[in-house]
This record gives sequence, structure tokens and C-alpha cells, in this order.
Amino acid sequence: MDNAFGQPQTILLLGGTSDIGLAIVRALLSPVTRTVVLACRDRGRGEQVAVSLRDAGVQVDVVHFDGADTETHETVLSEVIATHGDIDVAILAFGQLGEGEATGRDVAAAVHLAHVNFTGAVSASVATANQLRRQGHGALVVLSSVAGERVRKANFVYGATKAGLDGFAQGLGDSLVGSGAKVLVVRPGFVHSAMTRGLPAAPFATTPDKVAEIAVAGLRSGRRTVWAPGILRYVFMVLRHVPGPIWRRLPLG
Ligand SMILES: NC(=O)c1ccc[n+]([C@@H]2O[C@H](COP(=O)([O-])OP(=O)(O)OC[C@H]3O[C@@H](n4cnc5c(N)ncnc54)[C@H](OP(=O)(O)O)[C@@H]3O)[C@@H](O)[C@H]2O)c1
Repeated sequence: MDNAFGQPQTILLLGGTSDIGLAIVRALLSPVTRTVVLACRDRGRGEQVAVSLRDAGVQVDVVHFDGADTETHETVLSEVIATHGDIDVAILAFGQLGEGEATGRDVAAAVHLAHVNFTGAVSASVATANQLRRQGHGALVVLSSVAGERVRKANFVYGATKAGLDGFAQGLGDSLVGSGAKVLVVRPGFVHSAMTRGLPAAPFATTPDKVAEIAVAGLRSGRRTVWAPGILRYVFMVLRHVPGPIWRRLPLG
């Protein structure tokens, strides 16, 4: 359970090799942290990233988890609970960017992206929230994106998955009020991570560590939504209302 300073004992990272997810885990580490569970589709890569966490003195368990394999999510969750007990913070960080040209035209690529980023995320979130509700405490941190705030033509399937996930996560958070469990929706802009490697940076680009700092501050202050960086909240207040003909001509990739 979190102590009075909001420091968790047990952390679950769904998407255990995510740069942003791992930065949030590192930002949450404290002397009270007992266990970090990295739930990854590639356990070998999970074991590689576990080394630096173990060096920091934390017990790390790497378990197999595929966001696309929704039938397994409840089992993965119950096995984690059976082994490690209650989860204090779960971070839903798995996701794919897809390639805008392909996902906008290729049915199979579009369905795959929607399945992993939306259906898989919904499935894993409901399985996690059920556990947090049973415990009566704990937080689920959901990695949304400003890409869902107003969907761009350049990668509209990805943007749509994030719009759907963001709405879902807000509703889930509302449904948990009074249960002791909570949801924090994190809306980063462009983040320098494995996902964006080689892509030109967008305005207000940031780093996984900055996103983690904002997410952890949000968790500790009981926020429901945070933007990373914070200025994007105001940028998107404007962009949301830009007329379509102008929006389509903006150089947003
Ligand atoms: N980077 C950005 O600019 C940015 C901005 C806004 C929001 N986000 C969101 O933040 C989250 C984390 O992204 P990141 O920047 O940390 O990128 P990342 O380092 O590429 O992390 C993405 C993670 O998702 C995992 N993953 C992909 N498909 C999976 C599947 N089917 N099952 C299980 N895991 C799967 C990847 O695992 P593998 O190692 O096996 O590929 C990787 O661990 C994503 O949801 C992303 O959409 C990112």
C-alpha cells in the first residue's frame, strides 16, 4: 500500500520495456518499494531492463504479457496478485505508433493498431481496475496522448485509438470514485523515446523523465489528468477549436 508520502510498495508496468513507463517506475522508487513487475511481450528485453532496477535494490519480476492477447489479461493479473499481493500503482504504457500511411489504408494494419492500442488497453485496464476495486486502494496510470485531443490526418488511426482510450480512462476513473482506487490520465505531447526514434520532434517535445516527473506529481496531488508538458493543455484548448480547413493545413505532420 502507498505510505503517507504516496510512495508505492508494489508497481506493475504493463508494457514493461516502455521508455516512458520505466521512467515513471524510476520516479516512483523509494525505500518502501518492494517489488516492480514488468509485464512484457518480450521477456528477454524485460530481463535486460530489469538489471538497472535490481541494481537500485528492488525486487523485479518479469512476466509475459501481450496487450493484443486479451483473453489472457485477467489470468496475468491474478497471477501477479497471487505472487506479489496488492498492486499500489499500475502503469498502462504499452502501445504502438503504427505508420500513418499504412494504417490509414491497409485494413489489417488499422485493425491491428486499434486492437492493441484500444481493445487491448481497455481489456488490461478493466482487469486491473477490478483488482484495485477489490483491494479498495491503488492507482492506474494510463498513457493517453495529445494525439487523441484532436486527431491529425497524418496518423489518424493512432490518434483515434488514443481519443478512445482517453475517453474510456476518464469514464473508468469516474466509475471508481468512492472505491478507494483511482485513474490518472497522462497526455504527453511528442516524447523522445523508442517509439519516436528517427522522427522529427514536434513543438514542446519532451523526455520520458519529464513526463514521469509530471505523472508522479499528479499521482501524489490526486489529479485526474495531467499534460506533459503542462503548456499543451492551453495549446490544445486553442487547436481543438481551429476550423477544419485551417487545421488540415497546419504543418503537424
Ligand atoms: N513517445 C511519444 O511521443 C508518446 C507521446 C504520447 C503518448 N505516448 C504513449 O506512451 C506509451 C509509451 O510509449 P513510449 O514512448 O514509452 O514508447 P516505447 O518505449 O516504444 O514503449 C511502447 C511499449 O509498448 C510495448 N508494446 C507494443 N505492443 C505491445 C503488445 N502487443 N503487447 C505488449 N506490449 C506491447 C512495447 O514493447 P516492445 O518492446 O516489445 O516493442 C514497448 O514496451 C504508449 O502508449 C504511447 O502511445 C507516447
